[in-house]
Amino acid sequence: MACCHTELELEQGDTAFNVDTSSITFGDGCLSEAGAVARSLGIKRIALMTDPVLATSAHVAKVEASLSAAGIAVARYDDVRVEPTDESFQAATKFAIDAKVDGFISVGGGSVIDTTKAANLYSTHPADFLAYVNAPIGEGVAVPGPLMPHIACPTTSGTGSECTGIAVFDLLAMKAKTGIASSLIRPTKALIDPGVTETLPANVVAASAFDVLSHALESYTARHFHVRPAPADPTQRPGSQGANPWSDLGCREALKLLGTYLVRAVDSAEDVEARHQVMWAATLAGIAFGNAGCHAPHGMSYSVAGMVKDFQPEGWPLGEPIVPHGLSVIVNSPSVFRMTSELDPARHRDAASWLGADTADVADDEAGEALAGQIITLMKATNMPNGLMGVGYDANDIDDLVAGSLPQRRLLDNAPIQIDKVKLTELYQGALSYW
Ligand SMILES: NC(=O)c1ccc[n+]([C@@H]2O[C@H](COP(=O)([O-])OP(=O)(O)OC[C@H]3O[C@@H](n4cnc5c(N)ncnc54)[C@H](O)[C@@H]3O)[C@@H](O)[C@H]2O)c1
Ligand SMILES: [Fe+2]
Repeated sequence: MACCHTELELEQGDTAFNVDTSSITFGDGCLSEAGAVARSLGIKRIALMTDPVLATSAHVAKVEASLSAAGIAVARYDDVRVEPTDESFQAATKFAIDAKVDGFISVGGGSVIDTTKAANLYSTHPADFLAYVNAPIGEGVAVPGPLMPHIACPTTSGTGSECTGIAVFDLLAMKAKTGIASSLIRPTKALIDPGVTETLPANVVAASAFDVLSHALESYTARHFHVRPAPADPTQRPGSQGANPWSDLGCREALKLLGTYLVRAVDSAEDVEARHQVMWAATLAGIAFGNAGCHAPHGMSYSVAGMVKDFQPEGWPLGEPIVPHGLSVIVNSPSVFRMTSELDPARHRDAASWLGADTADVADDEAGEALAGQIITLMKATNMPNGLMGVGYDANDIDDLVAGSLPQRRLLDNAPIQIDKVKLTELYQGALSYW
C-alpha cells in the first residue's frame, strides 16, 4: 500500500497491521443487557466499579438491577478516583482481591474503565506495581496471560477506553501521567448506551469530545504502519502500530461527525441527536486509535496533567486542582498539527474540511494552518482554555513540561516526525496561547 510519510521511511518496515477491538454492543438502553452479558461470560460474582458521582446515578442503578435480575452476585466499589493515580489503582486492586470476584463491570468514564483494567490485571497476576507500567518509567513486563472477563460501560463520550488495551494513571511520585499497555487488558465486552450522555455536564462533554477529536486526528496523521520496524515476533505487534487503512475509516467518520455535532452536543443536553452522535464518534475513534495509536498531543498531555498547579475547571467534583484529560490534550493539538502537516498536507487539509473548514483554496503549505485554525475555532466556540496559559502554565514551565513528556516514547515515536528534546520544546512553545 502506497505511503507518503517519507521522513521515517525504513527498509525493514512492517508489512501488515492488526485489527483488534472489544466486542461492542451500541444503542439506546443497552445497559439493561448487562446481566445477560455477564451470565453469557460465565460470571457468578462480579465487581461493579464506579466513581462517587455516578454511584447514585440511574446508569449504575440500571446495570445493578440487570445483574441482580440475572442472578449474579454484585460486589460494589464506588470509590474510583476521577483522574486515577497509582494509589487509587492499588486501592481498587485491594478491593478486587478481597471481594473474590470472577469478573468485572465498569460503569463510568475513562477513569473508571482504566481503574477496572488495573484492578483486574493486578488481582489476576499479582506483581509489584511498576512491573507492568510502560518502560522507561516502569519495567514494561509483559502481562503473563488472560485476565477475568470485564464488561465496560462508558458514561462519557470520550476516551474510547472500552475498546483499548491501555490504562492511564498519575504516578504521584513523578508528578506525571503514564500507563500500562497490553492487548490483554482490553475489556472483553463494551456496552455503549448513548443515553448516558444526557446527564453529562457541558464542560465534560466538551473535554471528552476534544479527546475524541484528537484521538481521530492523531491516529489519522500518525506514522504509517509500514514505516515502523516489523516486530521480531509477529504476535507482539504494538497497539501503537501506526496509521492503517482500518483506523483511517473510523477517523474519517469520527471527524465528520464531530464537525457536525461537537458544538451542538456541548451547547444543549436536550440535543439528544448531537449527544448520541458524539458517542458514536467516540466509539469509532476509540476503535481507530486502539489500532493505530495516538502521538504527540497525547504524549505532551501527560506532563500538562501531571504537573497541574491551581487550575480547577467547572464540571469536575474534586476540590483540588486538575487538568482533565481532554483539556490536557487539546491545548497541544494545534501546535502539533502545524508542525506535522509538512509531511502529509493532504491528510491535514482533509481533516480540516471534515471538521467544517472551507479548504477549497488551501495550498499544501497552508494545510497545517487550516487544521490548527479549525480546531481553534471549535475550542473558542465551546469555551475551552486558550492553550497552556489557559490551564495555568507559562513560558518558565516549558523545560519541566518537556522533561515530564520526553519519556513517553510509546506515543512520541508514533508521530510522523522525529520528536527530540528540541522539537518538543518548540511544540510546547507553540502551544502557550492561540488567540
Ligand atoms: N485507556 C484509554 O485508552 C484512555 C484514553 C483516553 C483517556 N484515558 C483516561 O481517561 C480519564 C478521563 O476519562 P473521561 O474523560 O471519560 O472522564 P472521567 O471518567 O474522568 O469523568 C469525568 C467526570 O464526569 C463525571 N461523569 C461521567 N459520566 C457521567 C454521566 N453520564 N453523567 C454525569 N456525570 C458523569 C464523572 O463522575 C467525573 O466527575 C483520564 O484519566 C484519561 O487519562 C484513557
Ligand atoms: Fe485520550
